[in-house]
Amino acid sequence: MEPDEDLDVESLPRGGYRCRLCLLQVANRPSLEDHLRGKKHRKLAEVRARRKSQEEKSVFVSGFRRDTSELELSEYFQSFGPVCSVVMDKEKGVYAIVELQDETVLQMVLAQPQHCMDGQKLRVKPRQKKEFKYIPPKKQGAARGQELSLDKLSQALCLCSDVDEQMKQVVTLFQFSENERKLRELLVTLLQEVFSEFFPGCEVLPFGSSVNSFDVHGCDLDLFLDLEHTQTFQASTRKPQEEEDKDRAALDSRSEDSILSDVDLESATVPEILELVAAVLCQCVPGVYGVQALTAARLPVVKFQHKESTLQGDISINNRLAFCNTRLLQVYAEMDERVRPLVYTLRYWAKQKELAGNPFGGGPLLNNYALTLLVLFFLQTRNPPILPAVSQLKKLAGDGEKSVVDGWDCSFPRDPAKLEPSSNMESLCSVLADFFRVFADYNFAGAVISLREGQALSPKDALAAENCGGLKLGALNVQDPFELGHNVAGNVNEKTALRFQSCCRDAAKYCRSLQYQRKSCKGKAWGLVRLFQRGDGPEASRTDEDPAAEDGLVISLPSPLQILTEEQSRDLCGTESLQQLCFQKVCIALHFVLQDVLKCIVSQDEDRESMVVDAEEPVPLDEEPCVGAKRRMVEGGALVPDSKRQRRDAVASKEEKVSWHCAVWHRVWLGRRKMRRELQRRAGAGTCQSADSLQAEAEVTEALAQRESGSRPAQPLLTFRVCILRTGATAQDCRTNLHFTPLQDPVALFQDFFHFVQIFLPKTVARYIQKHELDSLVGATERLGQEMDF
Ligand code: UTP
Repeated sequence: MEPDEDLDVESLPRGGYRCRLCLLQVANRPSLEDHLRGKKHRKLAEVRARRKSQEEKSVFVSGFRRDTSELELSEYFQSFGPVCSVVMDKEKGVYAIVELQDETVLQMVLAQPQHCMDGQKLRVKPRQKKEFKYIPPKKQGAARGQELSLDKLSQALCLCSDVDEQMKQVVTLFQFSENERKLRELLVTLLQEVFSEFFPGCEVLPFGSSVNSFDVHGCDLDLFLDLEHTQTFQASTRKPQEEEDKDRAALDSRSEDSILSDVDLESATVPEILELVAAVLCQCVPGVYGVQALTAARLPVVKFQHKESTLQGDISINNRLAFCNTRLLQVYAEMDERVRPLVYTLRYWAKQKELAGNPFGGGPLLNNYALTLLVLFFLQTRNPPILPAVSQLKKLAGDGEKSVVDGWDCSFPRDPAKLEPSSNMESLCSVLADFFRVFADYNFAGAVISLREGQALSPKDALAAENCGGLKLGALNVQDPFELGHNVAGNVNEKTALRFQSCCRDAAKYCRSLQYQRKSCKGKAWGLVRLFQRGDGPEASRTDEDPAAEDGLVISLPSPLQILTEEQSRDLCGTESLQQLCFQKVCIALHFVLQDVLKCIVSQDEDRESMVVDAEEPVPLDEEPCVGAKRRMVEGGALVPDSKRQRRDAVASKEEKVSWHCAVWHRVWLGRRKMRRELQRRAGAGTCQSADSLQAEAEVTEALAQRESGSRPAQPLLTFRVCILRTGATAQDCRTNLHFTPLQDPVALFQDFFHFVQIFLPKTVARYIQKHELDSLVGATERLGQEMDF
């Protein structure tokens, strides 16, 4: 079915689509098609179809005796035809849903004027038809009543006097109350008592957010059951006989029934021990339910819930490192008073944007620990640093603070009061804005974020370090501060990493506005309130002053080095000069494709805020490798006449960011493929079409323009700004991102244009570089290589 005919799909007035079934929005048609073909949508559609079919052949039955069983009801209705299932409202025992084999049986049941069972008159009616509604997991969480509503939070934040105060207020509103803290302590004490009976000498140690200074109402209780001093699991406790009898009565004789014999823990496997932990929890801890041993996870745990406290908990037995990193986070939090407000604010922001959180079963989101580490890393890399790197802390560790856990060095000072405070005096408001700015264009995939070193490492260097060969690199790489072979964000997929960047970009843009920086005197939402709005679309951070705020329309161009052989680029990877050189090549190629192939008018952008263009002459590419040297530009090939040299000079930049204003005059995407085929056919028949593929594309554009209006119209069809950014977080990275912002789009064509260039630009730019810049790239890389050898 075409997406336009799909009743689940709604076109949005500002472009993009919404899937009514899955309750999500997508930016464009290809994403919509991906979504409709995707697992989630197909699964929900199946569930809905199944429910509908069940509804249509089910009856609602009431009036039976309270002690009636499903089987009895099933037997009664089988006299009309086969019964598929009976679901009874067990709590109240007052009604049941009986699903019959098909509608024929249903009609027979409904045709019976009176139903009688065990002398009771039954009420039987068709099942009510309910619209199928998907409840996203986050709403299910909210239904548990653990969340502070956004409305209440917003009201409280609007009363603050500035953003710094708002950020501190977020901490006040989310952190545990004294009672919550005590409740957790009580549960830990209870567990310690019970476990000590079965695992003599064990220790129950809380870690994670309950104790690491980043506690949030209702967060999980992470526990480490330390069995270092425990040799055996004692199925019967070693108490005097009378006491044991008393305990046994109190425990309702349950413990010994399933925990059969003593176990030597030395020889037991982790899953076996966890099964014992689960058994103890189930049978011996009052109020515990929903116990589940997840023994196949990377870090096996037993999950449980506790009725009276409404807490959810995880118990692990081989997690001593987590106990250490919890203490490290605590030390960092106490070292500088900006740490907690910043972490709380960013955790809430990321939750609202569905970028981070700890959904059951994992998923591609950043977990809270990984996000916290990312924030700490950001603070380590301020100038001057707000927090020291872990390696610096290690040097300051006293004798009693040096430790090696599971082979990893975990030495650091335990007392933050003894550490030197930072000389960085930035306000919270500006630190937060800077976080978004920094990560808006961060090359997450090409860097390994190392808290140990307080800097981003190249993947090669990170993998080369001792014991780090197993570091699983992916779309986002955050190395654990102690367990260097573990990427704590290894689960994050490319889509989430890109969304993270795009949300940072939106947020960075918003943070530049007055609405972020100043309290509204007209009672409007300001500061963090707008940042916390749900969803990741530009709506969330669009400012009143800037209705054409960035739409997160980004195209990523691969590194031009991809066209070099491995040998040609190997020696040069990592040189700053090479990065600049690649960026220049991309700018030149892009300018050519936009202006000469697609016939747009490209001019330098007037918007100084988003543009940094280096006015200096470009770096010569084939004569002198050193950046900054002045010299003549060598032209590429037949398609670049000498008269265009000046223009090429103007587009090549030594900076990391260039911004152009572009005007599109014709629908150069409409019927392009057909026109290309048509021209090829004509060329075959004798009319000349260029053998040069770029020239051929230029001819296609020309022909499309001719077909549309013959001459150039008075006004462009649309205008947009393209901001070209070097993404490189590490010196190896030579990729470029193009950020598009529609400016004038009177007939709403920008989306179509963007979908076209998403595919067209990367391949045509690469083709241009391949054809016109390859020789100079190779020449320049060789010379740079020789220089480096000296
Ligand atoms: P969480 O991701 O649950 O973090 O990991 P949190 O800070 O406790 O956040 P909540 O509970 O979701 O609010 C819990 C702890 O597990 C350890 C860390 O000590 C972390 O604080 N952990 C987690 C690791 O050691 N490595 C990991 O990869 C993940």
